[in-house]
Amino acid sequence: MRLFALGTLLLAFAVVAPPPAIVAHGRTAMHDLVPAPVSVRPARGAFTLRPGTAIASDDAGVAAYLAGVLRPATGYALPIRPKGAISLRLEGAPASVGPEGYQLDVTPRGVTIRARTPAGLFNGVQTLRQLLPASVESPSVRPGPWQVPAGRIVDHPRFAYRGAMLDVARHFHPVETVKRYLDRIALYKINHLHLHLSDDQGWRIAIDSWPRLATHGGSTQVGGGPGGYYTKADYREIVAHAARRHITIVPEIDVPGHTNAALASYAELNCDGVAPPLYTGVKVGFSSLCTSKEITYTFVRDVLRELAELTPGPYVHLGGDEADATSDADFATFVNRVHPMAVSLGKKVVGWHQIAAPDVRHSPGRVLQYWGLTSDDATVTRAVAGGAKVIMSPANKTYLDMKYDATTKLGTTWAALIEVRDAYDWDPGTHLAGVPESAVLGVEAPLWTETLATEKDLEHMAFPRLPAVAELAWSPRSTHDWASFRERLAAQAPRWQTLGIGFHRSPQVPWRA
Ligand code: ACM
Repeated sequence: MRLFALGTLLLAFAVVAPPPAIVAHGRTAMHDLVPAPVSVRPARGAFTLRPGTAIASDDAGVAAYLAGVLRPATGYALPIRPKGAISLRLEGAPASVGPEGYQLDVTPRGVTIRARTPAGLFNGVQTLRQLLPASVESPSVRPGPWQVPAGRIVDHPRFAYRGAMLDVARHFHPVETVKRYLDRIALYKINHLHLHLSDDQGWRIAIDSWPRLATHGGSTQVGGGPGGYYTKADYREIVAHAARRHITIVPEIDVPGHTNAALASYAELNCDGVAPPLYTGVKVGFSSLCTSKEITYTFVRDVLRELAELTPGPYVHLGGDEADATSDADFATFVNRVHPMAVSLGKKVVGWHQIAAPDVRHSPGRVLQYWGLTSDDATVTRAVAGGAKVIMSPANKTYLDMKYDATTKLGTTWAALIEVRDAYDWDPGTHLAGVPESAVLGVEAPLWTETLATEKDLEHMAFPRLPAVAELAWSPRSTHDWASFRERLAAQAPRWQTLGIGFHRSPQVPWRA
């Protein structure tokens, strides 16, 4: 007991008194991590990766992933064996790490990551990755040496849901772009990718029972151009790529508004039976499914059934925002019919927080995604009192499509200008009055693409704000410190450069050369 207490004391000291960030050229320090871990205790010395270093793991998937990260830059074989200097174990982790945390021990003789689940090992691997020199991210062989600073990290997430969202509807983004986005969000321990798969400008997922949704509804995008859609094979490839990174895909079909692409594809979904033309502008709030027609519910049931078949994760997102062309009564009628359809398919419903409208009933496991600009919202408070959980995505903090400042070329400004510090300096646990931390499922950073047509555009808006939001979702509030964060963020830039990620060189961050 005394020893344990002493350990706790040392740990507490290590957390409040981090040493200077950078040790020597190319080498990292134990504190150079985003998101900040729960506790970091540096020790003397370092482990050095060698050509014959073996990886031993209780989870074959995480071992293969780690080898895949380390082999290209090191050029080392790094065989996977029953015993190895790098050891990933599903035993011996302290209970405090919970289902997604880990304990990482580095000594000159080896690296051991202990966790209670493969997801925990995977998170520990992301920390190990950031402790290696940034050149480890190179796709071709680099010189090394490949050193990991010694010490112990014990870590677990503050929130279970750590999300990013990609709008593939306004501008279509191909499978390879989505896969790279998954690779990048994994580096920051984000565990959900929400795909906004339908909107006025495009329907992006093949639905066999309603094929024109994709072939016609997916045939354009904002500003015109060819658009595109994912076949079911494409989509399964995205889901599998995500699963290897312990990321859950949350598919969104936005209903009853934001539905022009569907209405253009099937005349019978319109109250007047006339299909509108495809839409390539950026207005919102003008379209609605016909809530009084029975075919509308057949349509939603079919789409949900096919979407649920493609979705191993627990959530489907059913939009519900900006349904300005639907009356309040029709909105409640519609939502009260379609949310139970998702529940009967074994899924929990996520929706933009407008699904908490007064006459909408709670469905079991319902999650509201809060994207408002205020610090209290009576409908959200009431829904939370009724059992709903909340994903925090306040638009003036987390919307990655907002401009950084007035000079940013891409993006929009309707919610706010959001520099890095604005994205970082808020608390998801206290942001909304009436929504206690216990009701906050997590935090998500949405990336809307009205103005973002290319992968480079996405990178420029996501980096460096996405890691800021990821830290809010993972790190304990006690580590929150802008002065520390900006230094740790600066240390990430060589990694982004090596990975070929373009980023906004915010004047708020002391980038090194
Ligand atoms: C939204 O930004 N309309 C959710």
